[in-house]
Amino acid sequence: MDNATPKLELIDLRLRYPTSRHLEVEGHADPGLAVDLKGTGDAPPIHIASGEFTIILGPSGCGKSSLLQMIAGLIAPAEGMVLKDGVPVTKPGRDRGMVFQSYTSFPWLTVEDNVLFGLRLRGSNGHSKKEKREKVREIVDLVGLSDALHKYPKELSGGMKQRVAIARALANDPDVLLMDEPFGALDPHIRIKMQELMLAIERRLNTTIVFVTHDAREAVFLGDTIHISTIRPCFLKYRFAHPFVKEDIPREKARERYSKDFLSFQREVEDRMQDLIEHPEAPRVIEEGDQLTLRRSMLGVLEQLSESIEKR
Ligand SMILES: Nc1ncnc2c1ncn2[C@@H]1O[C@H](COP(=O)(O)OP(=O)(O)O)[C@@H](O)[C@H]1O
Ligand SMILES: [Mg+2]
Repeated sequence: MDNATPKLELIDLRLRYPTSRHLEVEGHADPGLAVDLKGTGDAPPIHIASGEFTIILGPSGCGKSSLLQMIAGLIAPAEGMVLKDGVPVTKPGRDRGMVFQSYTSFPWLTVEDNVLFGLRLRGSNGHSKKEKREKVREIVDLVGLSDALHKYPKELSGGMKQRVAIARALANDPDVLLMDEPFGALDPHIRIKMQELMLAIERRLNTTIVFVTHDAREAVFLGDTIHISTIRPCFLKYRFAHPFVKEDIPREKARERYSKDFLSFQREVEDRMQDLIEHPEAPRVIEEGDQLTLRRSMLGVLEQLSESIEKR
């Protein structure tokens, strides 16, 4: 595999569910369609590069989970295919870790054993018990659960339970992490902590992450690339390359120091999503200007400006 091969390619994916009467009444042309990456005009495949933090943003019911489950290999597309490292995905695999909104740890196992369970699935190939315990501690430390190593899930808060779920997914050393609204059920202040954790994990592991959310704020805080979906069926009409490149300006910093620019980018993303909600009849095509790269040219100017103001 050469370096130019994307980590993931989503090619002309389509998925249908049995038709509901509600949709038939509304006169949809293809009422069962839940995901339609090809759109009405042969949209190009979606490429996700290795190490990229990709966001799929869209309103509830638009088909985000369905799309993610096709990437996971949990459901088969009706048309098209998912390629991982150039190879078609046909079933779930340990190379693709998954974290859901609902808590998925085993209630009868401690935090340590829950993570260890993930490791065991990997088989014992050459790893001693001691090495495995060490690996578990490393991951548990990474997700900030060292103090809860011997606790059971029922003793943990929602945020901590999600940390366990993330740790379990990471135990398999996945090279793609698929996350389906993982923080959707958490209180806002805990949610922010979890988002910061994701940035820290990304920095440490450089995993390719596909993260589904309906929250534009979350999307803009986490993503390198943000795809915005139409309402059902899920068609990824807009693609934003984030103007705040993480290596240049860490996101945590961006939120404080460049908050004005940051918010205006967030507003742009929100506006586009709103537009797609308000115009469900629009053809699912990608037009010039839908794929936006607002790199730092604009922001560099603002940075210089704020520095010269600071100096005065
Ligand atoms: N197993 C299923 N059978 C029939 N319809 C489904 C099924 N799963 C989801 N749907 C429908 O497909 C659409 C997309 O669902 P989903 O992928 O869960 O969207 P999202 O994750 O964006 O909320 C919704 O209209 C939902 O009701
Ligand atoms: Mg969903």
